[in-house]
Amino acid sequence: MKVQELSVQTEVGHIGEILSEAQKKRGILIHALQQIQKEYNYLPREALEALAKKLDIPLVELYSTASFYKHFYFSPRGRNVLCVCMGTACHVRGAGKIVERLKEHFGIGEGETTPDMSLTLETVGCVGCCGLAPVLTINEEVVGEVGPGKLEEIIQAIKEHK
Ligand code: FES
Repeated sequence: MKVQELSVQTEVGHIGEILSEAQKKRGILIHALQQIQKEYNYLPREALEALAKKLDIPLVELYSTASFYKHFYFSPRGRNVLCVCMGTACHVRGAGKIVERLKEHFGIGEGETTPDMSLTLETVGCVGCCGLAPVLTINEEVVGEVGPGKLEEIIQAIKEHK
């Protein structure tokens, strides 16, 4: 009985070593991706190629890992990121009209950035403030009860703070 337990512990110990190596590499990779995005506000291809080479990881594996996480971006983003909640409560209370007004005013579609890089327009599912619907976030700051008047103030503020 004791010999069997020892054997199991040895196997688990070995697997533990393998896992810790994989986890270590993954931890370094995620940290490096975060640092690159912090520097450039997205993940430029050249930076990813350099990182893949440095870590001796196939570029496709690096892309696969980065695309698993929603907070990594592969194209440049604006200095302001405006994200309209399209969850049910916000949808019912006019989120679609907010998106249309923003598209019309800034001349961009969802997921796009203005040519002067002042704004990226995005949409998202419920952000967890349904009682304040319709809701949007500006650079991750939540703004609720966005009626037509408040929306025009937001548009003006973005134009003034390019
Ligand atoms: S649906 Fe918009 S905050 Fe919940």
